[in-house]
Amino acid sequence: MKRIFSGVQPTGSLHLGNYLGAIRNFVGLQDDFECIYCVVDMHAITVWQDPQALKANTREVTAAYLAAGIDPKRCIIFNQSQVAAHAELAWIFNCVTRLGWLNRMTQFKEKAGKHRENASSGLYVYPNLMAADILAYKATHVPVGEDQKQHLELTRDIAQKFNKDVGVEVFPLTEPLIFGEATRVMSLRDGARKMSKSEPSDMSRINMTDDADLIAKKIRRATTDPDLLPGPEVLDERGRVPEAARAARPEAYNLLGIYAALAEKPMAGVLADFSGAQFSRFKAALTDLAVAVLGPVGDEMQRLCADPAAVDAVLRDGAERARAIADPILDEVYDAVGFLRP
Ligand code: TRP
Repeated sequence: MKRIFSGVQPTGSLHLGNYLGAIRNFVGLQDDFECIYCVVDMHAITVWQDPQALKANTREVTAAYLAAGIDPKRCIIFNQSQVAAHAELAWIFNCVTRLGWLNRMTQFKEKAGKHRENASSGLYVYPNLMAADILAYKATHVPVGEDQKQHLELTRDIAQKFNKDVGVEVFPLTEPLIFGEATRVMSLRDGARKMSKSEPSDMSRINMTDDADLIAKKIRRATTDPDLLPGPEVLDERGRVPEAARAARPEAYNLLGIYAALAEKPMAGVLADFSGAQFSRFKAALTDLAVAVLGPVGDEMQRLCADPAAVDAVLRDGAERARAIADPILDEVYDAVGFLRP
């Protein structure tokens, strides 16, 4: 049986990168897989979160899942801290993972920055908790962005070492599902940087709850270059933008990539439509498209955020169904480790 697990951190307002790179992709998977989508609040607190904001953000990510079209009947939607198995299995994995493995994690190095001595120990063992998220359900496939690939490889290393140590094939080797290049959404201000909630200027990103006027303003002000838009002849034989072309015009290809992703069209088609166009014409079309796609999702998110009781009920139901899967797996793990069970 194929089982998907993925998670989004409730650390601040969700933007187009979260939507195109993660959440929208989750929607299509529910037809073919058993899907478990988590709001990873325990990962969020590896860096300081204001408690009231964390609650609001947890509901906001849940609302985004629902508004994007994830069906809470067919899928399991819940927040991580409601299911104890995540913390329990993470402790076991703290005792499986070698320090050398964690020391190679590039995300820790980036997030801890120069002040490594000041980072929380939770941030350091973050990948062990992520492995626990996935393996508490014996998930076979995990949709993630490029930046999480290394954590997924670690998850496989942990599963393999655990299985070998205890002499039982408890865990599967989970496969990543990496989505296409168009899902790499960059800042509207600087095409070389990822669109991020940590960038100070709100003009650098389109938030999932921005209204039509704000979306229009942000796209109008987005950084461009003086040239006309390129045509499909720039693409390589696989229909992709060559790195050199992208490096020369990062903002142009970012906006074109966003258009392609929102329109769910191949890049070649978008380039054919706008070949030789001025940015002004393209930006007007991009605005209309972004408003058409994000508008209904944002409206539904606003509606759900005004009804926290309904959102909490989804999470409660999801947590119960998640526990029903994870608890027997934890029993199996505890037995394999040698913990006496009641
Ligand atoms: N680390 C992921 C991110 O920042 C979030 C995450 C936590 C996750 N646990 C997961 C993703 C399990 C996939 C599977 O994007």
